[in-house]
Amino acid sequence: MTLSAQTAHPPLTVLGIETSCDETAAAVVRGWPEGERAILSNIVFSQLEEHAPYGGVVPEIAARAHIERLDGIIAHALSKANVGFGGLDGIAATAGPGLIGGVIVGLMTGKGLSAATGLPFVPVNHLEAHALSARLTDKVAFPYLMLLVSGGHCQLLIVEGAGSYRLLGSTIDDAVGEAFDKTAKLLGLGYPGGPAVEACAKGGDGARFALPRPMVGRANCDFSFSGLKTAVLHVVRDHGPLDEEAKRDLCAGFQAAVSDCLVDRTRHAIARFEELESAGAQTLVLAGGVAANAAIRTAMEELTEEMGVGLSVPPPALCTDNAAMVGWAGLEHFSLAGSSGRMGTLAAPPRARWPLTELKTA
Ligand code: KG4
Ligand code: ZN
Repeated sequence: MTLSAQTAHPPLTVLGIETSCDETAAAVVRGWPEGERAILSNIVFSQLEEHAPYGGVVPEIAARAHIERLDGIIAHALSKANVGFGGLDGIAATAGPGLIGGVIVGLMTGKGLSAATGLPFVPVNHLEAHALSARLTDKVAFPYLMLLVSGGHCQLLIVEGAGSYRLLGSTIDDAVGEAFDKTAKLLGLGYPGGPAVEACAKGGDGARFALPRPMVGRANCDFSFSGLKTAVLHVVRDHGPLDEEAKRDLCAGFQAAVSDCLVDRTRHAIARFEELESAGAQTLVLAGGVAANAAIRTAMEELTEEMGVGLSVPPPALCTDNAAMVGWAGLEHFSLAGSSGRMGTLAAPPRARWPLTELKTA
């Protein structure tokens, strides 16, 4: 991305910090919501090796790893962007939702840097950072429909503006990324599960095992994945040790079932958007780590084409956790300062739980 000098407003330069799960990340972004934008640096350290022996993220290990790495990663992000603290307009850090130990590390680091430098600080909601990432990459205009599919969430929302979200539906049990991770664990494919299931599904026969499509056909926009996870468990139990071909077929079947569920629920949400906003959805945005899945992207391309809606999916590296999206969400709030922005809130607490629909009151 390039930054043109022709923005109506002088661009802001923001340092973003992300530590809510198992990625320690810092980035520098520059731009303005209605103008040009650029990612000057985007450093992500994935703690894969630390957690792999346990088959999932261990919160205490994650928090310690964030403490050890974050300073160096921030320094790296600033030097790669060729920006010192004097060249920044603000600092943004994830304040939740997420694993509380990690959130505390990033949030306190951001606040500390703000106190030491005098730069304004904005606490960022991690889900909002995912939600606004399509505005960083594709300049998508408000309002838009968003399917947020990550390790902890599965939601359909209308994004009305920075800080303003209307929930259409969410999972009543497991998040979709969680279902990928549990399936991978059951099949001994390792961690993280999503990319492992996707790789294993290549060339598999998705029709070999009959798997359910929970909630498909329901009038609302909610999701459910626990029945699908249990069905995978039953296949594994009933068929004894699965050979490589059976694993491929089961992964392909699981991925197809997930795609069908997401497509059906999103189809309902597109119709609901029209009822609520009195105009059709112009754009569907896919966000969150599961949006990195190529089969799901393709299914959504077909759906949006059929329904005459645009589709925006950030590149895979900006779908999974990163700090560029945090910097951008901070930048959007800095630009609202004086109106509805949340700038300058050094008192903001770390939050394990922080639904998007509570942002207005945060
Ligand atoms: O957004 P994210 O990086 O972290 C959270 O905020 O949760 O999402 C992580 C989730 C994990 O469950 C991971 O298995 C899943 O996204 N994921 C994928 C893929 N890449 C990551 N799921 C399916 N296919 C992928 N290629
Ligand atoms: Zn995330």
